[in-house]
Amino acid sequence: MLEKTELHESISQTYTRVLRQESEEQTATVQSAITQLADYGDSELSVLPGDAVENSFGCGNPLAFAGVKAGDVVLDLGSGAGIDLLLAAKVVGPEGRVIGVDMTDAMLEHARENIEKAGVTNAEVRKGMIENLPVEDNSVDWVISNCVINLSPDKGKVFSEIARVLKPGGAMQVSDIIMEQGALPEWAPEAFYNACLSGAIDEAKYLRDLASAGLVQERVLERFTYDASTLKGLALGGEVPELSDLLDRMDPKEAEVLLDDLLHQMEGKISSAKIFARKPQVD
Ligand SMILES: C[S@@+](CC[C@H](N)C(=O)[O-])C[C@H]1O[C@@H](n2cnc3c(N)ncnc32)[C@H](O)[C@@H]1O
Repeated sequence: MLEKTELHESISQTYTRVLRQESEEQTATVQSAITQLADYGDSELSVLPGDAVENSFGCGNPLAFAGVKAGDVVLDLGSGAGIDLLLAAKVVGPEGRVIGVDMTDAMLEHARENIEKAGVTNAEVRKGMIENLPVEDNSVDWVISNCVINLSPDKGKVFSEIARVLKPGGAMQVSDIIMEQGALPEWAPEAFYNACLSGAIDEAKYLRDLASAGLVQERVLERFTYDASTLKGLALGGEVPELSDLLDRMDPKEAEVLLDDLLHQMEGKISSAKIFARKPQVD
C-alpha cells in the first residue's frame, strides 16, 4: 500500500471521528437529508442497514442513471460505510461483483458489518489507497465513487489508476465536488479540507486530468450548485468543526459578519457534480 501522507492521515482521523453509532431516530434524519441533497430514493435506502445510511458522507448518488447492469464488476473508490457498494451489489446481482476500497480501518469495519447485516454475498472491501488501487489491471466494468476524489492530493494518479483497472470500454461515473478558484478565503484551506472543499478542483481541470490519464468521452452529466442556505447548513452542521469552533469563540455580531462574508464568497462557486469518462475500446 502507498504510504499515507500527513494529509491522508488527517482525513482518516476525521472519518473515524465522524462515524455514528446506529440509532433509528438518526437514521431517519440522515435519510431525509441525503434523499434531498444526494438524489437517493427513500425506497432504496429504507432496505439498507441503518448504519450504512447514517454513515453516508457522499455528495450525490453516483449510481443514479449509470448503465451498471446485472453481471458487472463495480469498484467503489473510498467506499466508506458501504452505502453505494450495497446499492451496486443489488444492481449487479449474483453474477456480478462489487469491490470497495478505503484507507480508513473504522470505515472498513463498518462496511464489513453492513455487508453482513444486509446479507450481501457479492461485495467485499479492501484496505488501500485510491492512488494505488489493490485491484488488477483491466478487471472492472464500472468505477464509482462518492465525494472522495476531491480529497486526494494526487488526482492525476487516481485517474491513471482508474484507467488501469477499467476493462477496455469500461466507464467511471462519480459524484464529486467541483469548485471554482477563489471560492474559499485564504485562511480556510486546512479547516475545509476534510469537508471535501479545499482539495476540490474546477470542472475544466477535472476533465483535462481525466483526458490526460487516457480516458475519453469525459463530461459532467449534471451539477448541483450549492446556494448560500445549503452552504450555511453544511458549514454549521458539523461538517467544518474548526469553523464552528472559531465562530463560537467570537463575538456573536462579528461571527455573523464573518459567516456572511464567507457564504457570499462561496455561493454559486461550489457544486456537487456527476462526472463520466470511459476507457477506450481496443480495436
Ligand atoms: C466523504 S467520505 C465518503 C464515503 C462514501 N463514499 C460515502 O458516500 O459515504 C470519504 C471516504 O473516502 C476515504 N478516503 C479518502 N481519501 C482516500 C484515499 N486517498 N484512499 C482511500 N480512501 C480514501 C475515507 O476514508 C472515507 O471513508
